[in-house]
Amino acid sequence: MNNILIAPSLLAADFANLQRDIEMVNASDADWFHIDVMDGHFVPNISFGMPVIEAINRHAKKPLDVHLMIEKPERYLAEFKKLGATNITVHYEACTHLHRTLQQIKDLGCLAGVVLNPATPVSVLEEILPDCEMVLLMSVNPGYGGQKFIESTYDKVRKLRTMIQEKGLNTLIEIDGGVNQETGQKLVDAGADILIAGSYVFGAKDPIETIANLKKIK
Ligand code: DX5
Ligand code: ZN
Repeated sequence: MNNILIAPSLLAADFANLQRDIEMVNASDADWFHIDVMDGHFVPNISFGMPVIEAINRHAKKPLDVHLMIEKPERYLAEFKKLGATNITVHYEACTHLHRTLQQIKDLGCLAGVVLNPATPVSVLEEILPDCEMVLLMSVNPGYGGQKFIESTYDKVRKLRTMIQEKGLNTLIEIDGGVNQETGQKLVDAGADILIAGSYVFGAKDPIETIANLKKIK
């Protein structure tokens, strides 16, 4: 894919100026808003919940890519859809009945994705890949922004790209954690379609320009 999608992660936004940061993303070349939901159980951290997402949705003019880092995500799918989720990604490690959960996401009219932690091999997707519209590979351990990129992710992207091609699918590959201009370019070279970036975008002097440069990656 040569039109790489960019999804700034609002986890790194200034929550006291959330509307300002949302308007920045609206005005930028970004494609999606990445929304990180954490429950303090599946991951050690707690981020934000329903009322905040509802508020984000009131101002966001681009699709909401909702990343659920929560146990038993199937309990809340309909609610996230109601709050404005366009895409819903659930962790392989958090779903006992992953096939059913993906079906529920699709039945709600959302794009359905599976997330793999850094320690989970892409081989676990062997049977479920045809049911995944997107696979999100974590390139850091989920729970926090601003962590160091895990280098073995490039290999994982290549393996996943090969699996997708061999099965004749058009599953999208999304990457989350430690993305910057340099890691972003290497990820796209390895076969990534969508780049999520938190601290690199919101910590930049000029976030609009930073997003525009990420968007130029081919
Ligand atoms: C981490 C989240 C990420 C986070 C990425 O658990 O899933 O989306 O915001 O942050 P950076 O881009 O700073 O690594
Ligand atoms: Zn995320």
